[in-house]
Amino acid sequence: MGAGIAQVMAASGRRVFLHDAAPAAVERGLAGMRKSLERLAAKGAPHDPDEVLARVEVVEDVVDADLMVEAVVEDASVKQDVFRRADAALGPEAVLASNTSSIPIASLAGVTGRPERVIGMHFFNPVPVMDLVEVVRAPGTSDETVTEIVGLARELGKTPAEVNDFPGFVSNRILMPLINEAAYALADGVAEPDAIDTIARLGFNHPMGPLALADLIGLDTCVSIMEVLRDGLGDAKYEPCPLLREHVAAGRLGRKSGQGFYEYA
Ligand code: CAA
Repeated sequence: MGAGIAQVMAASGRRVFLHDAAPAAVERGLAGMRKSLERLAAKGAPHDPDEVLARVEVVEDVVDADLMVEAVVEDASVKQDVFRRADAALGPEAVLASNTSSIPIASLAGVTGRPERVIGMHFFNPVPVMDLVEVVRAPGTSDETVTEIVGLARELGKTPAEVNDFPGFVSNRILMPLINEAAYALADGVAEPDAIDTIARLGFNHPMGPLALADLIGLDTCVSIMEVLRDGLGDAKYEPCPLLREHVAAGRLGRKSGQGFYEYA
């Protein structure tokens, strides 16, 4: 998702620094951006892929900027480490945003010296295509920061929706139990994956069924989000389905690993 966020920021004319701890992820991200930009250009988007990519600079560490959007693994301690480093590297007026799917923003704001400038800016996959940005206001986030990020989301061509800082926010409090229940339906032998997804696509008019969507999101991310919901809301109904855990333990993480509920070439 980091590459998708970098892409929409660069396409809006902004200069972007892209940093990842894993060089291979940067390479994958840049290749994905080119493919996506070419697809959009072929359909008449006004951006020249080379020009957009020229605005993206790969950097070796977190560097000074007006805004940081963190999109690392769904692990609070890893995110907190990024927020500590960003708090040290970026000027005092810079906004520190997280693309977290579920982790409370206050737990990230708490490791910085600028809680009023910390906010959730939650994009949706695939970022260049999906219109929503869930803007998450923590108790310490200032009105000014919310206004700036809502304005930025609009400038990126997205539609912002403001929510408060609860585990899983609104999006994943609704989406993840659906995915988890689809995994239970499969594990119980109610139906094969294709039938489960067909029912959601044709029965509810969802663009993808829940199992295909889980593969797109990443099964490891789905498990992490369920754990945040279970622990944060204190309700066992959010326990991740054992089948999801089995896939993750076996390295079947979805599209990114070539196999999840489905196999990918
Ligand atoms: N870049 C540019 N364009 C892309 C693209 C990308 N990465 N991916 C898809 N597209 C475009 C295609 O060019 C195509 O455009 P047209 O319709 O104008 O021709 C369109 O999107 C549809 O693509 P496809 O025909 O390849 O496939 P599709 O019709 O199945 O659509 C999809 C793909 C957009 C992913 C669609 O299936 C969909 O909307 N799925 C649901 C996605 C969703 O729910 N995402 C949210 C996940 S939750 C999340 O991200 C957050 C979280 O916290 C977990």
